[in-house]
Amino acid sequence: VSTHFSPRDALQPLRVTPLVPRAGVVVESSAQGDPLPAPEAIIGLVKVHGAVALHGFDIDLETFERYSGRFHVDFMSNLGSGSWRKTMNQGSDGTIQDVAYRYGSDRQQTFPLPLHADRAYVKSAPEVMFFACMEPAVKDGQTTVCDGIAVYRALSPQARRRFDERDICYLRRYAPDEWQLIYRTTDIARVREYCDANEMTLELERDGAIVTRYVTTAVPRTRWQGERAFCNSLQIGYWQEHTLGRAVNRVRWADGSEIDAGLMAEVDDVCAGLTADIPWVAGDIAIVDNTRMLHGRRAFDDDVRQILVRMGQKAHW
Ligand SMILES: [Fe+2]
Repeated sequence: VSTHFSPRDALQPLRVTPLVPRAGVVVESSAQGDPLPAPEAIIGLVKVHGAVALHGFDIDLETFERYSGRFHVDFMSNLGSGSWRKTMNQGSDGTIQDVAYRYGSDRQQTFPLPLHADRAYVKSAPEVMFFACMEPAVKDGQTTVCDGIAVYRALSPQARRRFDERDICYLRRYAPDEWQLIYRTTDIARVREYCDANEMTLELERDGAIVTRYVTTAVPRTRWQGERAFCNSLQIGYWQEHTLGRAVNRVRWADGSEIDAGLMAEVDDVCAGLTADIPWVAGDIAIVDNTRMLHGRRAFDDDVRQILVRMGQKAHW
């Protein structure tokens, strides 16, 4: 008896095709009503390809919760995240959120989101992201994925060396009435516990605002290849500061100096050529290795888009 397990064999007769070269695969059902593929087969593909989109299986919230629950991962809450999200499975473990950002507005924000690894600005970043499309945008609004290993290799030797040699620092500033919402507590001691557990420093400002600081590499080793990947929240932080003009999130070199625009332009350039779109159809799922892949979002222009997310902090694979 062969003990060798081939993900592709286990997926027969499903169709498995590259999403784009070097950025994931799509697994398509061959007929309506096909059962969802065995998680073990999909796990094999996630490990190799970094991202797997499941198309044509007609997932709803309940099936999404049940199916993702079979992947042997520890799901985590959205605590400490910079984006305010609606929890979709409140009566259950509360780890499925709607990604729509509606804070302070009736309509969800529709601007494009730069590539990022989720929560790379804290130590407890998830290893695996599960996404499910309840409703695609009327037009555009694709989720983007980009292989951080490919990005790292495609950077110029000079750029690579700079990220190899210097850590970066994520600085987050929450207003006096804002941090309670982010950390779901009014007790600053609880916030300090969270920061300690995440190896972040916490500073209280005179007006009651808080600033957290987390130093890490922009090019960590991936969980399943052990290879260096450009996998971080650098571009989204840079965009928040320089394009949105928000002081809530800044990224610097670890010594506090600015990351220069030329280097960021090179990163954006390299990423643009390696980015794939997940063309959402209602009922689709995508599973992304958050230790390797960056993801983002194309712009759209409606309020119907509904993508759910569930973060797996630790995968037991
Ligand atoms: Fe994200």
